[in-house]
Amino acid sequence: MAQISDLISTDIEKYLKLHQRKSLLRFITCGSVDDGKSTVIGRLLYESKILFEDQLAAIENDSRKFGTQGGDIDFALLVDGLAAEREQGITIDVAYRFFSTDRRTFIVADTPGHEQYTRNMITGASTADVAVILIDARKGVLTQTRRHSYLVSLIGIRKVLLAINKMDLVDYSEKVFDRINGEYCEFAKQIGLSGVQSIPLSALKGDNMLVASEKTPWYSGPTLMGFLETCEVDEARMLKQAFRMPVQWVNRPNLDFRGFAGFITSGVVRPGDRIIAQPSGRESKVARVVTLNGDLPVAAAGQSVTLTLEDEIDISRGDILSMADTPAEVADQFEASLVWMIDEPMIPGRPYLVKIGTQIVTASITELKYKINVKTMERLDAKQLGINEIGVADLALDRPVAFDAYTTIRDSGGFILIDRVTNNTVGAGMVNFALRSSRNVRMQPLDVNKALRSRIKNQLPAVLWFTGLSGAGKSTIANLVESKLTAIGQHTYLLDGDNVRHGLNKDLGFTNADRVENIRRIAEVARLMVDAGLIVITAFISPFRSERAMACSKVGSGEFIEVYVNTPLEVAEARDVKGLYKKARRGEITNFTGISSPYEAPESAEIVIDTLTTNPDEAAEIVLEKLRKMGVI
Ligand code: ADX
Repeated sequence: MAQISDLISTDIEKYLKLHQRKSLLRFITCGSVDDGKSTVIGRLLYESKILFEDQLAAIENDSRKFGTQGGDIDFALLVDGLAAEREQGITIDVAYRFFSTDRRTFIVADTPGHEQYTRNMITGASTADVAVILIDARKGVLTQTRRHSYLVSLIGIRKVLLAINKMDLVDYSEKVFDRINGEYCEFAKQIGLSGVQSIPLSALKGDNMLVASEKTPWYSGPTLMGFLETCEVDEARMLKQAFRMPVQWVNRPNLDFRGFAGFITSGVVRPGDRIIAQPSGRESKVARVVTLNGDLPVAAAGQSVTLTLEDEIDISRGDILSMADTPAEVADQFEASLVWMIDEPMIPGRPYLVKIGTQIVTASITELKYKINVKTMERLDAKQLGINEIGVADLALDRPVAFDAYTTIRDSGGFILIDRVTNNTVGAGMVNFALRSSRNVRMQPLDVNKALRSRIKNQLPAVLWFTGLSGAGKSTIANLVESKLTAIGQHTYLLDGDNVRHGLNKDLGFTNADRVENIRRIAEVARLMVDAGLIVITAFISPFRSERAMACSKVGSGEFIEVYVNTPLEVAEARDVKGLYKKARRGEITNFTGISSPYEAPESAEIVIDTLTTNPDEAAEIVLEKLRKMGVI
């Protein structure tokens, strides 16, 4: 026993190989904090008799210290990982557990039940065959239960085991069981989950866990373990799908060998197969399927291999290799279902990074079509998604990527959204379909270009991006800069916040979402003007780093010059040129920058102007001097 435990902890791959003859079931458990999820898993692990011996000793100890079950072993402690969590009595992060019975090997992703941990649930669920959804019999179907179930269905798990736990606390009442089962099955139908099996449980007392309980003579279905051991899994599912292998790296040890290494996410591949590299679209034939243990006649989903090709075609990390006659989709726009995972809401127009397969691209949500009320499954109009909310949106990527609809191939249709500034995962998505328009709109090559236009104007095009609090002095300095540039014959255009908000952006207010959209439009306009060869000057508060970074990325390197007009809040407020700070303090203006809405100061602006020590004219001269140094003028 100890040996097996050792193997699990040191070499799970080897352990799984030993058990290869048995089938493997991956499942996920989800429930709210006190539903008894940890107890269920703990008992399964314990009863399967291959617990780590030292783990067991630790548990006995801990049960005495923290346990909530008197002197008995508290199974929840088995899975509640870290000491800090134990002390708080909650589980965070996904924990994968491995156990085995005579009939099957199991991998369970234990995901925490706190509302804000939807993220972990998605991580755990993406590879699962079955979801065990826990319900506290006393509480019945909760909003959290519905949200988890909806996520489970979105993620593509079709088998759900509804574990109605804590039956001992409702006197093993058949009525209670029937009521919950009925309510849940009705909801399950709405979201397309058909194979639901409900089981009355007491994980704590062991009822219907491994042995049919005498306390529920009215129930004739399987026990929890019985269900897990016998439910059908389509283990060959991934093999039947089209071949996909995202390229992880190009293996070129010497001039004679060039291979593309990756993990096959679906399908099979053999030497001689005609394949296509996507998104580039170049085709070739597989020459060899190479592994550390020699060449293979065939390789399949779940294997890491290196493919060599018959032709020298240009393929790099991030490309997907597909079978030429069943290629992935390639597009730069798609519709997707999104789950938002952080406190700060998702905002259409804001640039995020999308990681799909091994490809990473910048993307933004062009339109949030609706969000889902998980209680009723109604579609609601929405401008943004809050934490744990689920919606359907159109996304635009900055270049085409290869993908599949999530329902066709999970691995190449799922993606995560990453914040560009913090690098945190902020959301997860599942591609529904490519947007046709993206295929039919192509960039038109033009004869007269930026270089030619700027040469005629005798200047390099650039954006002077002024940022700072309201009343900091942006407009004043920007105006002076433009006058001085025009006086020496340069070609400029000044985009000023207050002015643009009377025209192009008059539909926008001052919520975070509106400010993001304000800056997105200005960044696009500035880009066009830079393309026209102009020196563009913008004067907007532009309070968020993320959007300023986006504006920067729209133009060429060296073309974006951030000018931070640094005036402390107290000073801007004391000057209060427009009287707006007074109004904001009185509460007559909401979301006022610096008072009731944040301002994120630049961290590495090209020019910083301290308005306490520099007057507007000097400031404008500093800017011109910088332009001369950079060779713009
Ligand atoms: S930004 O945040 O979206 O970049 P922008 O520069 O366009 O703002 O507009 C700021 C100007 O709008 C301010 O200088 C001020 O005159 C006016 N304004 C009106 N309401 C607000 C508000 N709530 N917050 C900031 N500025 C406001």
